[in-house]
Amino acid sequence: MSARAPMVRVWDPLVRVFHWSLVAAFFGAWFLGEDGGALHQALGYTVLGLVAFRLVWGVVGSRHARFADFVPTPRRLAGYVRDMLARREARHLGHNPAGAVMILALITLLAATGFTGWLQTTDAFWGSELLEEVHGLLAHTTLVLVGLHVAGVVYSSLRHRENLVRAMVTGRKRPLGDAATARSPEAASAERHP
Ligand code: HEM
Ligand code: HEM
Repeated sequence: MSARAPMVRVWDPLVRVFHWSLVAAFFGAWFLGEDGGALHQALGYTVLGLVAFRLVWGVVGSRHARFADFVPTPRRLAGYVRDMLARREARHLGHNPAGAVMILALITLLAATGFTGWLQTTDAFWGSELLEEVHGLLAHTTLVLVGLHVAGVVYSSLRHRENLVRAMVTGRKRPLGDAATARSPEAASAERHP
């Protein structure tokens, strides 16, 4: 990709800070999970705070941060998956429909993990082994989805010849339909007519 290609702003600074703080807090909480101690809890509450922020930012945030910009209808999602299987899926500036569903799943699981973590500190559920099991299961399921999430990021980066991880750092991507840097003329055309 040409370094001189005109870039467009996609992820605002808060989305980027949100994302990398979430990565740090999630992995921190995960690795400190066994003891469930004060630092683990603080990191878990940080995850919950970040998720709460993201829900608000998904309504009032910048264009590509909004849920209305990326949450697909079932029909759009099905169409995108069909296109993926036929290897003709369009490139998106914001989240693609499959990535978007993963993001919703991650946010939901993070909220549930944090909630069941907090519940263990309440009088009603103090010492509940079942809740500890559920909390651990939710955390491990989230980790599996994170693996798929990162695999999706790598796959999509390769497919569209762009570095999505860097875009989540700089906030910028090359514009849609940039034939000079797209995979092929067909791909450039698909970007223009998604
Ligand atoms: C080091 C591993 C990770 C990498 C490289 C990574 C990379 C990315 C990238 C590139 C995007 C933007 C995708 C796009 O362009 O559509 C993204 C979005 C996202 N990722 Fe990750 N991610 C990682 C770990 C995680 C973890 C651990 C979580 C949560 C537990 C997470 C949750 C999210 C969420 C919620 C979004 C949506 C961002 C938003 O719209 O606010 N990611 N990630
Ligand atoms: C949302 C982020 C969180 C993640 C990823 C996470 C992850 C984990 C993991 C992996 C374990 C170990 C489970 C096992 O061994 O099967 C654990 C245990 C635990 N977590 Fe969390 N957790 C989070 C949030 C919280 C919160 C917010 C609290 C409480 C305020 C909390 C309290 C606990 C407790 C009390 C344990 C049990 C430790 C023990 O075995 O005694 N967690 N967590």
